[in-house]
Amino acid sequence: MNISDGELMEGILERGGYEIVRAPEDADVVLVNTCAIREHAETRVLGRVSQLNGLKRERPDMVIGVTGCMAQRLGETLLDQAPYVDLVMGPDGYRGLPDTLGRLERASSSRSRPRGLADPDTGAIRVAPGGPGRIVERRSKRGPQLAVLQLDMDENYQGLEQRRAIGPSAWVPIQRGCDHRCTYCIVPYVRGGEKNRSAIDVLAEIRALAEQGVTEVTLLGQTVNSYVWNGVGFPALLRDVARVDGIRRVRFTSPHPNDVTEELVSVMADEPAVCEQLHLPAQAGNDRTLKRMLRRYTVESLLDKVDMVRTAVPDVALSTDIIVAFPGESDDEFRDTLELMRAVRFDEAYTYKYSARDGTPATRLPQADFVDPLEAQARLEQLIEVSRAIQSEINAGEVGRVEEVLVEGEGRDDGQIRGRTRRNKVVVFDGSRDRLGDYTHTLLKRTTGATFVGSEVGAKEPATVAV
Ligand code: 5AD
Ligand code: SF4
Repeated sequence: MNISDGELMEGILERGGYEIVRAPEDADVVLVNTCAIREHAETRVLGRVSQLNGLKRERPDMVIGVTGCMAQRLGETLLDQAPYVDLVMGPDGYRGLPDTLGRLERASSSRSRPRGLADPDTGAIRVAPGGPGRIVERRSKRGPQLAVLQLDMDENYQGLEQRRAIGPSAWVPIQRGCDHRCTYCIVPYVRGGEKNRSAIDVLAEIRALAEQGVTEVTLLGQTVNSYVWNGVGFPALLRDVARVDGIRRVRFTSPHPNDVTEELVSVMADEPAVCEQLHLPAQAGNDRTLKRMLRRYTVESLLDKVDMVRTAVPDVALSTDIIVAFPGESDDEFRDTLELMRAVRFDEAYTYKYSARDGTPATRLPQADFVDPLEAQARLEQLIEVSRAIQSEINAGEVGRVEEVLVEGEGRDDGQIRGRTRRNKVVVFDGSRDRLGDYTHTLLKRTTGATFVGSEVGAKEPATVAV
């Protein structure tokens, strides 16, 4: 989602007359786009902006902006924490980026105080629009500072175009925000409620991408499969996208298990372009924990979904997200999560330690329930061990298969390229970089556990095809 938001900001800025450069040293404006999901991500951002301050000391005119969910979450307090930051902008402010940067520039050149009512304590000057306090303009010793923090009920970035990297694959956001309230999660507070784009626009965009040579699209949304627009639900949109001329692969992320329906699964089964891959964020394998997380499903119903998908799409690769040490999770309850992993055998698991996010309901659970950090770390390590072992076993069982691979880039070693199978597994094989965007078939020769080493099959190695 953040890669896609980065592309969106680049598109907006380019149309606003800015030129995009890759190195901070070459830039007049540096935007650091951020995630607020876990504390660790935020700590890294603070390190990054303080590094940028080193550059700014040499070039005082440089503008440092922090955008995205962490910016929204911390708001103007970020300006206190990192006084060299000039701009703080939440995810609903991107449309106005060029104007906002222009306003900063004008404010710094005019030396006049912006008009408004100054807060006697902080010197902050609150200006409309966007609701009280949602756009804050300040003047510090170093110059003007702006915090753009309004959440917009209608902002779904309709009509804005990304500046995408040239390549065979494209991210296509179809939904922003989230209507769920999982008790650990900050997303609804920093991205607002669910907003869906027009299906007509989404399809037009994908047709245009296909005409430019894109063959793979990934539909994005916080709960992507709850998408509905003017009566068009997600399964119908997915089917239409899969039928766009030139689109050979369609993926989507992240679905909510509750909206994995028979209808969705049958589109996955029937549409050749929809890849045999599903991310199914389980979060935990214990009903009491799931209930306190407000996930709105039980382990049994999740297992039913897994069965339903596997019945319809037998070769489907499943991945998941798991949080360990949610407040109040007992040792036995954690073991239930390990049990779920063994029962489902996910091809890939993204694993996290619970991270308390201010303002989310889980932080108000009794302090005594919070799991000791060392215990949380031990659970995480155990979970990773179990999920990696399962992944290695599954992948070892796939050695010998011949899979279609889309070449996405170079491998780590010279003369190697990297691609992905329909089931979202990474394969590295010999080839040159001019193969980017090619579809080919590779024999999976061995696995490192998570990825594969393959060799192209076809004219060169006909014998190996008959595995
Ligand atoms: N602590 C740990 N992990 C979290 N996630 C979301 N919020 C938190 C949190 N507070 C995880 C969930 C989600 C993934 C994107 O991040 O597993 O699916
Ligand atoms: Fe967060 Fe839950 Fe919404 Fe996912 S569904 S973004 S975990 S609130």
